[in-house]
Amino acid sequence: MKITNDILYVGVNDHDVDLFEGHYIVPEGMAYNSYVIKSGKTAVMDSVDEHFADEWIGKVKEAAGSPDYFIVQHMEPDHSGSVKKFMDAFPETTIVSSQKAFNMMANFFEGEDFADRRLAVTEGDTLDLEGHTLAFVTAPMVHWPEVIMTYDATDKVLFSADAFGRFGALDTIGYTNEEDDDWACEARRYYFGIVGKYGPQTQAVLKKAAGLDIEKICALHGPILVKDLGYHLGLYDTWSKYEPESKGVLIAYTSVYGHTKKAVEMLAELLEAKGVPTVEVTDLARSDMAEAVEDAFRYDTVVFATTTFNNSIFPFMREFIESLTERSYQNRRLAFIENGSWAPQAAKIMKGMFEGSKNMTYCDDNVKILSALNDQSRAQVEALAEEIAAAYK
Ligand SMILES: Cc1cc2nc3c(=O)[nH]c(=O)nc-3n(C[C@H](O)[C@H](O)[C@H](O)COP(=O)(O)O)c2cc1C
Repeated sequence: MKITNDILYVGVNDHDVDLFEGHYIVPEGMAYNSYVIKSGKTAVMDSVDEHFADEWIGKVKEAAGSPDYFIVQHMEPDHSGSVKKFMDAFPETTIVSSQKAFNMMANFFEGEDFADRRLAVTEGDTLDLEGHTLAFVTAPMVHWPEVIMTYDATDKVLFSADAFGRFGALDTIGYTNEEDDDWACEARRYYFGIVGKYGPQTQAVLKKAAGLDIEKICALHGPILVKDLGYHLGLYDTWSKYEPESKGVLIAYTSVYGHTKKAVEMLAELLEAKGVPTVEVTDLARSDMAEAVEDAFRYDTVVFATTTFNNSIFPFMREFIESLTERSYQNRRLAFIENGSWAPQAAKIMKGMFEGSKNMTYCDDNVKILSALNDQSRAQVEALAEEIAAAYK
């Protein structure tokens, strides 16, 4: 597939992976993107997961013959797994990467760091392809330390490594964002799951990108972004500043016997009736945790509802809150619903878990349920709904 006259797509689609990065469900599969730049000299951008090495090398041969340069932007094995096989298949090719990536190669490939045919690059270095000039931009901790991005000023293309990636195989979701109508949802789940901890580092790269004239973004996952770049860059800006993207409420809950769930359903109905723009409800024991994390970052208000469990909180709620705080969750309004049959303490424990979080506001009207809803706790749910909804009027 052609991206520009000189840039070709040579990536692969993975429909066999059960959990991406051993962690994330990928119902639409996954793509490992790779590109060929054909100029006076030919360059290949990144490799693919090792299970697809032969298929990918075949595509590279067809598109580029014997390439002059092989640029490795990121050493995560879904992109670097076929580096060694590539270098064996193309003994004349020079490998181009950051010094940190070469250090990692030695560890991934039993001491092999291609010392006799490599070129280490860093911020501001350029590579002349005789027709295209590539400029390298370091992107440390977006989301590994060795990452570089590459800008082709001739075709105004940014090769963005894992940034702007999305879950999904391209033969399912589309090869460009002209065909993909659901980029934000799966890109958001990808960003907050995988990159979200590194907001300041992402901000630093966005500032560098702002100085470039970019017409297309070629990420290592997801479709090639060929239109509406302002929209995609804007979302990355919002996400990496930890700002809410949408007005609305996420109610995340766990419930063993269903009484906490009843309170959650009552609250959701009241919020909708009072005209809150969006109300999302998620059962943390039964839904994708990464989707819940994504929604918590998306909306401005989150209600946490759980049972007291062995003097603590239900395990899925603990995992959820830890997933947020370890990603520097901040700038949100929070409320708590607790349940307990003899000594409810879930609200205190949940609030305590956000002690180190910046710029949180807390609703005054939390809900305490003693085993099952009664008039007193129903009144608390109503008061909480009123308080939450008031902010949207
Ligand atoms: C394994 C287990 C441990 C529990 N530990 C506590 C506890 O430490 N303190 C307490 O007040 N209630 C405790 N409970 C009771 C639940 O918090 C209580 O039954 C609650 O109403 C369940 O809400 P649900 O109907 O939404 O599941 C425990 C329940 C279970 C099943």
